[in-house]
Amino acid sequence: MRSIPLVRRSTTFLMAIVVLCCTAIGWSAARAMDTTGLGTVDPVPQNQQLGQSLYLQTCGGCHIVPSPAVLPDETWRQLLQDTQHYGVQLAPIVDPPRLLIWNYLRAFSRPIAEGESVPYRINNSRYFKALHPRVPLPQPATLGSCISCHPGAGAYDFRSLSAEWQNAP
Ligand code: HEC
Ligand code: HEC
Repeated sequence: MRSIPLVRRSTTFLMAIVVLCCTAIGWSAARAMDTTGLGTVDPVPQNQQLGQSLYLQTCGGCHIVPSPAVLPDETWRQLLQDTQHYGVQLAPIVDPPRLLIWNYLRAFSRPIAEGESVPYRINNSRYFKALHPRVPLPQPATLGSCISCHPGAGAYDFRSLSAEWQNAP
């Protein structure tokens, strides 16, 4: 009589262990994919990871993908809405992917001040300048120029610097 509930209890206990292990495995797999799959070095919260990979997929076909921090969120919002893109025609991006990309870009960029004009080019963005306090930037700074100082730019890594800058005071 007494052994039955004991068996049940240990089965429940076992089930709980199995569930915990599966969760842990899934979690570590997701983390491993984040760093190796996307080629990025900055940690991104789980709820932004899909947005980030959609951003890299959607926007990485023609040029290196810039880090969201270099432009204000309003520039990103307009870029996601406009199929006229710096003189080329983009395929419209549909929701929900567009919404996920926007949530990611918004989370990693900053708003502009009231009355401030919205920069269309990275070269005219004060956030881009603020990220480069000690750098004499090329004029104009274009997406093609990033790689000269950020050798990992093609893999969405803007932390690694070329030797010249790595050791600069
Ligand atoms: C079909 C090719 C193509 C795709 C896809 C594309 N772009 Fe571009 N993008 C261009 C071209 C061409 C330019 C202009 C380059 C130039 O004039 O220096 C450009 C320029 C830019 C610039 C401005 C760089 C500067 O000079 O300041 C940004 C920012 C940008 N793209 C973001 C995006 C984003 C965000 C997406 C995804 C929604 C995207 N691009 C997708 C072709 C593309
Ligand atoms: C002339 C060299 C040079 C060029 C060109 C350049 N960068 Fe940088 N970038 C640096 C250096 C050096 C730093 C580190 C900050 C500093 O020392 O001013 C930096 C920092 C950054 C950061 C901050 C990284 C962090 O630690 O969070 C981002 C983002 C960035 N750059 C993006 C870009 C993008 C996008 C482009 C191209 C449009 C670009 N950079 C072009 C040299 C450059």
